[in-house]
Amino acid sequence: MSKPPVFPMKAPARGAFITLEGGDGAGKTTLLAALAGRLRAAGLECVETREPGGGGALAQHLRTLLLDKVIAAGPVAQTLLHYAARADHLEQIIAPALAGGQWVLCDRYFDSSHAYQGAGLGVDSGLLDTLDGSIVGDMVPDRTLLLDIDPERARSRQAGRGRSPDRYEAQPDGFAERVRAGFLQRAAAEPDRFRVLDAGLGPDALIAAAWTAIADLLPPDGRDGA
Ligand code: TMP
Repeated sequence: MSKPPVFPMKAPARGAFITLEGGDGAGKTTLLAALAGRLRAAGLECVETREPGGGGALAQHLRTLLLDKVIAAGPVAQTLLHYAARADHLEQIIAPALAGGQWVLCDRYFDSSHAYQGAGLGVDSGLLDTLDGSIVGDMVPDRTLLLDIDPERARSRQAGRGRSPDRYEAQPDGFAERVRAGFLQRAAAEPDRFRVLDAGLGPDALIAAAWTAIADLLPPDGRDGA
């Protein structure tokens, strides 16, 4: 029987994989930056990224195609382009960062495909599950923060942005409501992975709620945060 090593190797540190989800205008991007700042202040290395667009040049080109409402693309074509961008993102950014022990904070991931293309546009969930099986595999987030917002309130926030709506913001009435219901359904089905946060909270209360929602993933000496 072989002897245990005198200096046992510590298991390599693995960062946590956190995704932020929610309808357009929920405030994910602002929360993600604040959360990343707080993780860094707690001494953790952290990569901020997003979908679609995170990854290499391919994913960035795909983002442009996907958001351009002038380019016709049916729901299935959109789905395949989102997963092509996701495959590139996983390969170029997410998998290497996690393997290197970094935390990954990602603004949208596969739950957005289920909410937007699935619940919003009617793509068959069997297709989405098949794509998840081959492209996402076991790269499932450790925690997903769903910023839940009433679509009416989100629309008034977006109106103040001063830019023209993209493909998904320009969808007809009822789309944002279906997307919201799709997200909430996924959250209800996976309560261990999801935490639902009220996107109507003020910025300080929202970051405090987000920190509490990931506290169990933090190393014991980082839990008090900055
Ligand atoms: P955002 O960067 O402003 O969140 O815009 C990305 C848009 O793309 C947003 O409206 C949601 C949409 N989207 C999908 O429809 N499916 C997806 O899988 C992802 C990641 C995003």
